[in-house]
Formats: sequence, structure tokens, C-alpha cells
Amino acid sequence: MAAGAALSGMKVLCRQICAQRSWPIISWRAASTTFKAADLQVELNKHPKEKPAVKDLVFGKTFTDHMLTIEWTNEKGWGKPQIKPFQNLSLHPASSALHYSVELFEGMKAYRGEDNQIRLFRPMLNMERMHRTALRACLPSYDKAELLECLRRLLDIDRDWVPKSTSASLYIRPTFIGTEPSLGVTKSNHALLYIIVGPVGPYFPTGGFTPVSLLADPKYVRAWTGGVGNYKLGGNYGPTIYVQNEATKEGCQQVLWLYGDDHQVTEAGTMNFFMYWINEQGEKELVTAPLSGLILPGVTRQSLLDLARKWGEFKVSERTFTMAEVLWGLKENRIKELFGAGTACVVCPVNRIVYNGESYNIPTMENGPDMAKRFLKELSDIQYGRTPSDWTYLV
Ligand SMILES: Cc1ncc(COP(=O)(O)O)c(C=O)c1O
Repeated sequence: MAAGAALSGMKVLCRQICAQRSWPIISWRAASTTFKAADLQVELNKHPKEKPAVKDLVFGKTFTDHMLTIEWTNEKGWGKPQIKPFQNLSLHPASSALHYSVELFEGMKAYRGEDNQIRLFRPMLNMERMHRTALRACLPSYDKAELLECLRRLLDIDRDWVPKSTSASLYIRPTFIGTEPSLGVTKSNHALLYIIVGPVGPYFPTGGFTPVSLLADPKYVRAWTGGVGNYKLGGNYGPTIYVQNEATKEGCQQVLWLYGDDHQVTEAGTMNFFMYWINEQGEKELVTAPLSGLILPGVTRQSLLDLARKWGEFKVSERTFTMAEVLWGLKENRIKELFGAGTACVVCPVNRIVYNGESYNIPTMENGPDMAKRFLKELSDIQYGRTPSDWTYLV
């Protein structure tokens, strides 16, 4: 007893000295290096909400009855994951997420097939991207497979929220924030990982494709060499809202992000960007920007490249391409389709680009768009379970 009291007194003294001298606090118990799905604590919502009709869904406005939260501190490591009723967070006003954008997120979906099974699409790619982004944000590591299992449990609890429609889905927003309660621009010693989910309607409500127009203004840059454009950090997105508003003023729906003096084509809005054309050698070619740090490595982008390479019917290139190449191709009638690709829409055709004060019509819709339609069909058949695939993960 006396020895125990002396040890605990020593711990307190040592903590006080560390705190006074701004040294890291010594941990007496090994901090846990990951959370475990087996430790999940579940508190069910006693007041479940009414579920809206699919036709009334507006992206990102409706959330389900539950959420997942997992806290971390440098001292104790990861706490137990908790599934609890959807609720507000309580944060210290100095939290690093609020001041220095120590925040990252993911975007993925769960789909209910005609067989009533609920599927995730290549979820480990999202888990890996999120983990990479966490390390870049100096947030703590964890076991990606454990997070996926925690997500699966959350989806299982809220499974009735996955729309019974093969055009709608349940959007999943894993989020990781620094909750360090101090204003120092340093690594967070406190963090919160959470997941919220909510039903979303079809991206193209009318059924068919609705093409978008893009503003390509080289004075705005989304990402740069040596920057963080290839990570899904919240700080990459806030500043784009202004540019999106500029695009709207120019009568365009989204932004085409260019980079460098040669106006390289990188991404469109929050989508990766693809050009299907006849190249200068007369070959059919599908082109998208390379993973050079300027673009987000999209799960959809990877899937389109994987499918196209499996088909083996045309050249598939991940390479730098410029506005000059696009305009030259347009002039010579060699551009077949331009489209964005991302989780929200799968593929989204482009029919117009405003660049250097000129408006260029893009013949994507006139060409079917055969390629965009084929990608949309192949991927949605997998996502909704019509085509069996090891890209899906059952909830
Ligand atoms: C900047 C950016 N590019 C591309 C994508 C498409 O990525 P994914 O296919 O993983 O949704 C997204 C969406 O997350 C994005 O935010």
C-alpha cells in the first residue's frame, strides 16, 4: 500500500514537472496503438427518426440515427469505439481542427441491391487513403481493418436507412479531427475519429446523364507540387468554394482545375478527369492525369483504369496532358468524350469548357457518350450486386 501511494505520488510530481517545462507527459501504461472493433460499445437510439422518401433527399442534409466515435489522446492512446445516437459534438474552442484545419475526411457509399444485400465498393481503398491522410496531418495511426469493421457494425445497425432503390445509396463520411485544446501550431495530442452516414438520392435525378460545363481559369490553383492535393484534407476544399462561385458567375457548373504555365488539366470540381479521344498517332486513347501529387487518387479513377485495362480495347494512359492538347484535339475533331469520375456520380459528362474568355463546345453527348455510359453501367452493376465482383464487401 505504502509503496503504491509513493509510486502514484511520484507519477503526479513527474506529470507536474513535465507540464511546467512543456515536456511530453510520460505515459505509465502502454498507450493503445489501435482501437478494436471487438471493444465496440453500442448505445441504441431510443427515438429513431422518420426516413425521408428518396425523391426528397438532398445531398448531405439527412443523417441516420447513429454515429461512430473513437477518441484518442497521446497519453492513453485509443479509447473504445462507440456507436451512439447521432448527436452534436462538444469541442474545446481552441481545438486544432477549428484553427489550423487539422481535419480530414473520406467519401464512400453503401448500396442496397435488388437481392436486398448491402454492399460497400472497394472500401479498403478509402481506408488506405484515409490512413495516409491521417499520417500527413500528424494524426495518430490505427488498424485500417478495425475501422472498416467498426463501419460495418454502424451500417448494420442503421441498415434500414440504406435506400431501397438501385439509384440511391447511403453516403458515408468518415472524419478525423485534431481536438488539441491549445493554440500552438503543433502535433495534436488529442483527436477524434468519427463516422456519420446519411441517405442520398441519384446524382442524375432524371435518370439519364446531365452534362456539366466547366470554368478553366489558370489563375486559380487547387494543388501544387510538394503540396497536399493528393490527400483528402478539409483544408483542400474550403478555399475552392470561392472558385466554384466564380464558375457559377461565368455560367458554368463546376471548375476545371489547371496547373502550371502549360495549363495541365488535373481535376474537375471534386472529380478526377478523363479524356477519351483519338491521339495524334491516330490511336483511341483514354487519358487521365498521373498520380504526381496534384490530384486525389480517386477510387473511381482507379476502377475506370482497371476496367479499361482489363477490356484491352484501347490505349490507357496516366500522363500529363494540357489545355493546348484538348483544344488541338477539338479543332481536329478527335475528342470523343470528356468526363469527370468520382463516388458521387461515377461518371459525369462535360459538354462545355470556358477557357481564356472563349466557350468551347465538347461533343461528349453527341458521341453517346458511349465510353461514359459503359463505365457507369459496369460500375453500377458491381455496386448494386448485379455483377458479382471481389470489389464489393458485404455489410
Ligand atoms: C478532389 C477530388 N478528386 C477526385 C475525387 C474522386 O474520388 P473518389 O473516386 O474516391 O470519390 C474526389 C472525391 O472524393 C475529390 O474530392
